[in-house]
Amino acid sequence: MARLQTTDLLLSEPISALALPVLNDAYHEQTSAFNIRSIGTMICRKANFADLERITSLLQEEDLRPEGVLEPSTHYWVAEEADKLLSSVGLELGAKSALLRSAIVEPQSRGQGIGRQLATEALDWAKKEGFRAAYCLSTHAGSYWLRLGFRVCPVDEVGAELKDAPQMGLFHELGWLPTEVAFKMHLSDHTAGLSQPN
Ligand SMILES: CC(C)(COP(=O)(O)OP(=O)(O)OC[C@H]1O[C@@H](n2cnc3c(N)ncnc32)[C@H](O)[C@@H]1OP(=O)(O)O)[C@@H](O)C(=O)NCCC(=O)NCCS
Repeated sequence: MARLQTTDLLLSEPISALALPVLNDAYHEQTSAFNIRSIGTMICRKANFADLERITSLLQEEDLRPEGVLEPSTHYWVAEEADKLLSSVGLELGAKSALLRSAIVEPQSRGQGIGRQLATEALDWAKKEGFRAAYCLSTHAGSYWLRLGFRVCPVDEVGAELKDAPQMGLFHELGWLPTEVAFKMHLSDHTAGLSQPN
């Protein structure tokens, strides 16, 4: 079972130290810029293509769509413990905004703050990179995003800000957009770090 201790000192080392197989030079440039963090026995780190199969399985087990995961202009983070993938979250990047998607924690590890931790990791990164807003689409987990500081916004706004985002394209093709609920967070309102209460 993962232990998430927000009071633990964060240990950072270059992601290159992980020696993960890298299948794409462009993606290697992205991952090499990030650090891994060890929190108790759980590691949060930037994802790469070696994680694609496990992220896909995690999503499919929950009937979430994996199309577009790790496509260009996306950044993903994963949490793992002893080589077991516990969680993922992704950002699809527009010019000024990012679409948060594929937020998932494997069933036995839920309720320990891992979802919050990984979403915070992604939002910290987006804020630091100068993105102004983060959006997400959700039909079933709306109250979760509200607790993390998102607010309901029009789905059309997400379409305008992130028209090339893979998830927007997929949901458009599937005809899902009319029934989706959209959420927005101004990243100036996002407090970076690990210790935000639930
Ligand atoms: C949503 C999810 C990522 C949350 O991850 P987590 O690590 O379990 O969540 P945290 O530990 O950060 O937070 C736990 C709290 O969130 C609540 N929560 C969990 N899932 C929720 C949901 N779908 N809707 C509303 N609240 C939810 C829990 O009840 C808990 O509340 P409490 O603190 O009052 O007990 C995880 O439950 C999950 O993978 N769900 C299935 C996939 C999914 O629905 N993803 C979102 C797609 S938009």
